[in-house]
Amino acid sequence: MDPKHRWLTAIWPRVRPWLPPPPATVLELGCGSLGGFVPALRADGYEAIGADPHAPDGPEYRRVEFERAELPSDADAVVASLSLHHVADPGEVLDRVAGVLRPEGRVVVVEWDWESFDEPTARWGFDRLDHATEDRGWLHGAHERWVASGQPWERYLRDWATGHGLHGAGTLLAALDQRFEPEVSERGAYLFPELPGATEDDERRAIEAGLIRAVRVDYVGRLRAAR
Ligand SMILES: C[S@@+](CC[C@H](N)C(=O)[O-])C[C@H]1O[C@@H](n2cnc3c(N)ncnc32)[C@H](O)[C@@H]1O
Repeated sequence: MDPKHRWLTAIWPRVRPWLPPPPATVLELGCGSLGGFVPALRADGYEAIGADPHAPDGPEYRRVEFERAELPSDADAVVASLSLHHVADPGEVLDRVAGVLRPEGRVVVVEWDWESFDEPTARWGFDRLDHATEDRGWLHGAHERWVASGQPWERYLRDWATGHGLHGAGTLLAALDQRFEPEVSERGAYLFPELPGATEDDERRAIEAGLIRAVRVDYVGRLRAAR
């Protein structure tokens, strides 16, 4: 299995418990070219729609930004995995998320906190990459670009992230908290799907030992009553 499929397979069990039982309408913000969780949602009996300019072909996808997509306005849940840090305007996108949810609806977000991705954490991951594999994920790319840059890690990462217009987790969590009442806001292991030789438990143990940072962010929230 390649790293993108490993990510989706590892994260789906984190998302699934926060959804109402099927049938229910679940929208995915930034489902990606693999369709994200949409295939798993539909297999479980959900009415699922994924919106992403790079979505696959098919009636269950909208190949456009979430904030511009034609979507039902009474969704039971919106899920977003690693997409919010890419959007142009988080406030605009989260207003649209709030607008498509029914009053009891939930947002389920999985993100990464690139601002906490310090050198020990990066090196822990780089040391566990399989450099011989053909299934090269984003961590391989980060390693190659960093080495080629000749820069200290922190400077390389900040230049790369800001150059790509990526939002930090602090910005995203503040924007989420303005619109949603958090039920979950916690950190977890993020690198292991990129590392065939390391498990989530390996990464969790390194986090608990204080060797590396927990750079995955899990957030679940309900619409604030006042909105
Ligand atoms: C890193 S990929 C994540 C894909 C998938 N959700 C996953 O977890 O593997 C980020 C995706 O967000 C999409 N994206 C960025 N801005 C978006 C927006 N405003 N609306 C919908 N998708 C967006 C990108 O096209 C890209 O496919």
